[in-house]
Amino acid sequence: MGDQPSDVMPIRNIDMPDASMPGALEGRFELLVQSVVDYAIYMLDPAGHIASWNSGAQHIKGYAAEEVLGRHFSMFYTQEDQALGLPERVLSIAEREGRYNGESWRVRRDGSRFRALVVVDAIRDPSGTLLGFAKVTRDITRQWEAQCRLEESERRLRLFAEGAIEYALCMLDTEGRIQDWNVSTQRVTGYTAEDVIGQPLDLLLEEAGVSGALLRRARETGSREEERRLRRKDGSFFLAQVAVRALADQDGVLHGFACMIRDVSEQRATQNALEDTREQLFQSQKLDALGQLTGGVAHDFNNILQAITGSLDVATLYLQRGEPGKAEHQLESAMNAVDKASHLTRRLLAFARRQPLLPTRFDLNASVASMIDLLERTVGATVSMRIDLCPDPLWITCDIHQLETSLINIAINGRDAMPHGGTLRISTGTASARTTKLHGEQVFACLTVEDSGIGMSREMASKAFDPFFTTKPLGQGTGLGLSMVHGFMEQSRGTVTLHSQPGEGTRVTLLFPLDDGEGETTAVEDA
Ligand SMILES: Nc1ncnc2c1ncn2[C@@H]1O[C@H](COP(=O)(O)OP(=O)(O)OP(=O)(O)O)[C@@H](O)[C@H]1O
Ligand SMILES: [Mg+2]
Repeated sequence: MGDQPSDVMPIRNIDMPDASMPGALEGRFELLVQSVVDYAIYMLDPAGHIASWNSGAQHIKGYAAEEVLGRHFSMFYTQEDQALGLPERVLSIAEREGRYNGESWRVRRDGSRFRALVVVDAIRDPSGTLLGFAKVTRDITRQWEAQCRLEESERRLRLFAEGAIEYALCMLDTEGRIQDWNVSTQRVTGYTAEDVIGQPLDLLLEEAGVSGALLRRARETGSREEERRLRRKDGSFFLAQVAVRALADQDGVLHGFACMIRDVSEQRATQNALEDTREQLFQSQKLDALGQLTGGVAHDFNNILQAITGSLDVATLYLQRGEPGKAEHQLESAMNAVDKASHLTRRLLAFARRQPLLPTRFDLNASVASMIDLLERTVGATVSMRIDLCPDPLWITCDIHQLETSLINIAINGRDAMPHGGTLRISTGTASARTTKLHGEQVFACLTVEDSGIGMSREMASKAFDPFFTTKPLGQGTGLGLSMVHGFMEQSRGTVTLHSQPGEGTRVTLLFPLDDGEGETTAVEDA
């Protein structure tokens, strides 16, 4: 603010009879008016000539008292307003109604304009004769500009909302009732603004009462995105992506929610069709692979049967010779061979069967822990296993058997990559990663299998997930192990990645979406 003016005229410098004020009070009142700098407070005679001037007036308008006293107050109006006869109108309103209130542009001494909030009061003596006017003016340029900026940003926001054709946007109050929405929402849902304004978001959701949880989660973490089935006005349903963002100010006070709805039913249908085709292709590839396998497997079985017959023959011999200890040893080898054969059949069956995914919610750590024994037997004695499970449970939802098969597949790959032994490390934890669907990072449960084996070249690693890509001899590898892992991870909404360097081993990482247990998958599955 500017300097305090020193040469201001006292407020009552013209002869205006004051009927009520005793001397001392009058003096103090004058002092008060004089010291106000944020308001221009001055008086006009009945014709509109300036009769007094305070420091606020000097401060706001830039004129010293002697420059304005006696001049007509219209000098502060813009040319346009003067031409329109506004100053006269102001006085006549104040005279007729006792007071004039208004807001308009005024001109400072240096020619610049400011936005003024003006109050003009008529002053009358007890007999009703007009003595003049008291005028209070406030410079509200800054508030006015702020208001304009706000209006502009609101206008832009509205244009943006109306322009976002693919997205239905609506604003909710803190209770989740719809306050406002854009035209796309009508296009997507069939409801008009009149139908929904003031209604809870639940109106649009197929399941009753889920919007509360949705908003609560948005409130807790800032935003929340879920796939939900929504109801159109005509009663039909569609699958939508519903993203809700809590609108809170810097102090954390909630002002409502912004909600974005996108119809993803078509997208989901295409995706399902693609998955079906992939599944069919996969099944036919599997049959092909089985055909190719038969030769190898028959050969394997022959070998195993021979081993069994051999061991049993020798065992019989030992028994005839009365050497049961040696016979027992042979019987053990026979048993091992039987184990091997049944393992082989089990793998084949698991592979050949058409297994639909059966997702359940379970702790990844617990499931890995329960497999340690099996894994150790699978990788054999030459490979040392290290298991590092994170201390907290990792809840995920997927087909647990597929997970086990995948883990065994990956472990077998590791074993095969370490023909002279090495270390296989299996660890779990959490990892955050960017997803295409969400705006930010998402936290995943992470399962990592690392081996210290031969590793892969970049070119080989890029093919490792291809169906039938194998470097193993006929009968030993189908080339479908990693391809199955990949398919399974996609269906489980996770990812699988592979890092490898020749001679430096391989790391396979599986990321599963963490499941907080409030069952957001249901809406997707019955779509
Ligand atoms: N940990 C690994 N280290 C080195 N190479 C690997 C590793 N894992 C996979 N590979 C390479 O990727 C190929 C494809 O692996 P995938 O598991 O899909 O099939 P496979 O192991 O050959 O056959 P199957 O899994 O049916 O026994 C393997 O043949 C191997 O060349
Ligand atoms: Mg494999």
